[in-house]
This record gives sequence, C-alpha cells and structure tokens, in this order.
Amino acid sequence: MKITINKSDSKADAYGFLLEEGTLSSAAIKSYEKKFGISLTDFLKQNKFKGNLLETVVFPVLKSNKLVHLVFVGLGKKGTSNTYLEHYRRALAHLYNQCVARKLQSMSIIVPSKKTIAVSDELLGQQSATTLLMADYYFDTYKSEKDAKKHEVQDVNLVVSMGEKEFKKGIKDGEYIAQAVNKARHWIDLPPQDLTPPELAKKAKSIAKKTGLKVTVFDEKQVTKMGMGGLKGVSRGSDVDCQLVILEYKTKKKNAPTLAFVGKGITFDSGGLSLKPPAYMETMKEDMSGAAAVIATMEALAHLKPDVNVVGVTPLAENLPSGKATKPGDILTFYNGKTAEVRNTDAEGRLVLADALAYTAKHYKPDAIIDMATLTGACAYALGPFFTGMMSQDEKLVKKLEASADRSGDRVWRLPLHDDYKVAIKSDVADICNIGKNNYMAGATTAAHFLQNFVEKYPWVHLDIAGTAFNVPDMPYYKPGATGVGVRLLVDFAMHWK
Ligand code: BES
Ligand code: MG
Ligand code: ZN
Repeated sequence: MKITINKSDSKADAYGFLLEEGTLSSAAIKSYEKKFGISLTDFLKQNKFKGNLLETVVFPVLKSNKLVHLVFVGLGKKGTSNTYLEHYRRALAHLYNQCVARKLQSMSIIVPSKKTIAVSDELLGQQSATTLLMADYYFDTYKSEKDAKKHEVQDVNLVVSMGEKEFKKGIKDGEYIAQAVNKARHWIDLPPQDLTPPELAKKAKSIAKKTGLKVTVFDEKQVTKMGMGGLKGVSRGSDVDCQLVILEYKTKKKNAPTLAFVGKGITFDSGGLSLKPPAYMETMKEDMSGAAAVIATMEALAHLKPDVNVVGVTPLAENLPSGKATKPGDILTFYNGKTAEVRNTDAEGRLVLADALAYTAKHYKPDAIIDMATLTGACAYALGPFFTGMMSQDEKLVKKLEASADRSGDRVWRLPLHDDYKVAIKSDVADICNIGKNNYMAGATTAAHFLQNFVEKYPWVHLDIAGTAFNVPDMPYYKPGATGVGVRLLVDFAMHWK
C-alpha cells in the first residue's frame, strides 16, 4: 500500500467519506457533489443514513464511463476527543475493508477536519497510516490457492485540510508503527512448528543487523549456567533450546533514562505435564505474543529514535510434557536466588518472566519496567477481548500508560495489585508457589504478585494480554488471529516519556 496525501489528479476507484452522526453535509461533500454532478446529501437522506458508527452506504456511479464507488461510513456520536479517535480508527479501517471486498486498486479518503477529530495533525496522520496498514494485514503464507491470497488496495490518497507537513510526518511514523504491529502479528500467526524459540531469536538478530540495535542471545546452555532455573525449568520438556533475547536501543541524548520492556515468549504452551484440555490448547501458538510485541516495538523504536534508552528482554521457550519435563512438586531456583514450588506446570509464563525480570533489574537498573504477557485465562475472563489487564503500584506509570492507551488505541484496564493478595502465593516448601491458593481467586492479580518478587524496587507495570492478543472480535482493523496488541502502546509510551 502506498499512502499519499492531497494527490489532486487522483482518479481513484473509490472516494471515501467518514461522517459524524447527524452531519450529512460538509464543504468536502459539496465539492464532490460538484465533481460528480449529483446531490450526495439527498442520496444519503433517502438512504436514511444517520452516521451511526460503522453504518455504511455505497453509491456506485459512472464517471466518464468508469465505475467509481462513493463510500460513506458513519463515525457515530461525538464523545470526548479520545474516544472519538477510536471511532475514527474503526470507521477508517471499515472503509478500507469495503474497498478490499470490492477488489479496488485505489481509493481517496476525505479525512475529517480537526474540528471533528480533536487531535494534533501529526497524531491524526500517524493514526491514519497505522490503522490503514493494520487493516491491510492478512496472514496468507500457507494459503496455496491464488483466490485465498490477500487483496491490497495499492494506492490510498488522503485528502486533508490540516497542516500537511505535520500530517505527513505522522504518516511516516505511523507506517513504522504499523509495520511493527503487523510483523508481530505475522510471527504470532506462524504455526508453532515454524516459530520455535531459536527461530524467533534469529528474527531478532536480523532486525538488529538491519537497524543497528544491539542484540544478545543466550542459548539453553548459557541460561542454565547463569542460574535461570525458571526459563530452563519450563524448557526442560522440549527438544528445542530455550533462548533469552535482549535488544538494546541507545539514544544519542546524554544521561537519558532507561526503559525496559519484557515479553513472555512461550512459542507453544501445551501446559506441560499439567496438560491443557485440547480446546484450550488450540491457539496456544499465541503464547509468545508478549515477546513478539517487545521485539517488534524495538524495531519501530530504532526508526523513530525516542530520547530514551530502551531495552527489550524476551525469554523464549516451548512448554511441553516429556520424560524430562518439570513436574508438579519440583522446586526451581531463579536468577536472583529466590525459589518457587511448581504446583502447576501450566503456570509457566511467570517462571520464564521471573528470570527475565531479575536479569533486567540487575543489569539495567531501569527507570521503568513494563512486562507484557499472555499470562492468565483469569485476566481474559475478567476483562474480555477489548482491554489489556494492567497491574501496578506505581501511580505515575499507570497514568502514563493510560495516556498512551488513549492515543494509540491499545487500551488498558486496571486490576488490583494490592499487598492483601501477597499471601496467596506463599509456599510451605519454597519462597513462593507458582499458583495462588484457591480461596484468594483473582488469578491475574496473584500471577502479578509472583512477578513482583523479581523487579526489585524499580517502577514496574505488568500487562496481561491473554484476552487481547488473539482472535479479538468486531474490530475492523483486526482479523481472526493475532492482533499485535502492545506494540502501539509501548511505542507511544517510549515516544512520550517525560
Ligand atoms: N498461556 C496461558 C494463559 C492464556 C490463557 C493465554 C488463555 C491466552 C489465552 C498460561 O500459561 C496459563 O495456562 N495460565 C494458567 C495459570 C493457572 C494454571 C494458574 C491459566 O490461566 O489457567
Ligand atoms: Mg529443552
Ligand atoms: Zn500455561
């Protein structure tokens, strides 16, 4: 897809209009009425078009004997500025999907004015590009029939009335962000036979080579030698090596703070000896979504160059049962010397994150740690598919992430991380236990308390993406499969630090 702006000679296959509820006329509509010699307002009225969110009418017309589609999509009621930006994202993606369904080659989109979507020209440009390219994602790598391959609208022209320079800068950034989102989605959608820990580590290395990021990869032997008993313990049942992958971005700014992103990378989660029932295992290739988001974010940041140092740490392993696998009752010792009783081998995410977090704290002393993990079914049940669970005791970081969520569209909802729950993960035989005691319930929270043992005193937020990483319904910029959740959030967070 090639995104241009204000290409005046545009002879597009389609013209798209995004209309606020109740406003069926605008300067833009009037100019297109002239262009086509028809009353679009009458057409909309007689179609009983109200402008409800995602309401759609398509008007095929012949212009100089060529079929042109006029596509109208509603933006819904105007709410606060930020929620309206989310309406814009959905309506824009829906508009794009309409043109894909008709297999069109080019489209021109009349972007609503700043009065309608009350954000900066740069942010609107960024969000326009990110959203269009996210809508364009389609996983067809293993489709052998030509008809099943994706159709892409090649030329997308955005007609804008605002600051062209800022909008254009936004588009460029937005393209980098979307490329990262879609790359994460692709890795997640790849079958687990093809995306093993060493394969994902290879991808991180090639990104580092291309962008100049620093990369460090520890294999299973080194992980074992370093005393990372959690990562090693989870990987023991698998025939492939676990990996600890570290990507580093360094700003040229002196004395810049350091942000750390840590992502869970279980390339397949069978549950281990505490085997999952078949239906729960079906999509467990998604269990590396946190790692995918972190690695892809690092690539985007290498291009966007924020004024902070950023380190991305991803523990990668397969969780499988075998004669060598960790057993319920086993006790593991982590990188920071703490021990945990493993009562359930399906609570493996916290075990690999424990070592990764302890390593991150010790070696980077970061100003903020954000970990992202498909950690608990409990979080998915509590919040459903539209909000990532956020747990933290650092109010400043929470505020920052909430602002990033509004801007980027990667939404978060806070769940408790309160000392009252700490006792839930006490163990009789080790420092802590990898599952919470039944009567405390709150599985997302007790998992977060487990992780808290490994971040020392550094400001930290835990994000549980179990519900938001895969098969999110109803969102026009998503497809069945991976969402790439977290990339937009982390990029925005790094770009807006201080
Ligand atoms: N990978 C799962 C969590 C998950 C569930 C992710 C659904 C995406 C969708 C995780 O490793 C897991 O199995 N967690 C257990 C923890 C329990 C044993 C304490 C769970 O949630 O059941
Ligand atoms: Mg192994
Ligand atoms: Zn599991």
